[in-house]
Amino acid sequence: MPYTLNVNGKSTTVDVPADMPLLWVIRDVLNLKGTKFGCGIGACGACTVHLGGRAVRACQTPVSMAAGAAITTLEGLSADGTHPLQVAWQEIDVPQCGYCQAGQIMSAAALLRTTPKPTDADIDRAMNGNVCRCGTYNRIRDAIKRAATIATSRAPQTARASVSVNE
Ligand code: FES
Ligand code: FES
Repeated sequence: MPYTLNVNGKSTTVDVPADMPLLWVIRDVLNLKGTKFGCGIGACGACTVHLGGRAVRACQTPVSMAAGAAITTLEGLSADGTHPLQVAWQEIDVPQCGYCQAGQIMSAAALLRTTPKPTDADIDRAMNGNVCRCGTYNRIRDAIKRAATIATSRAPQTARASVSVNE
């Protein structure tokens, strides 16, 4: 069945079964490989994308539920890798194996969108469920705080450049 999806600001039509997970569509139909498959049961967070600005598990989201809403994947976070989180992630050298990191960044982006200056408790709450088998949690927390600072420093020059995602 055809579904019109808005992915990273572009409208695209896919002809897939209604119950196909959004993750399958993103990776295998649209060929956007930034979003990762980890567990497939909603338990790891590797597949996190934004749907209407909220972090969701793409492996647990049927494509039929995603039609009509703005979908953002890691590729859509910024055009040139300069989103505050991407800059902070590099500065702090967060990843180890890297597998979980796309999902981590997408959950962090959803957090900063609603909470520009998160506390440790805010971070822990928002990132709970994004599993890192390499144990990079402390660096993730530092990078989220650093991204919040970067976003704030940019704010006077580019209003709302910050942590917003085009959704
Ligand atoms: S692959 Fe979706 S939560 Fe693990
Ligand atoms: S960096 Fe290896 S799983 Fe997170």
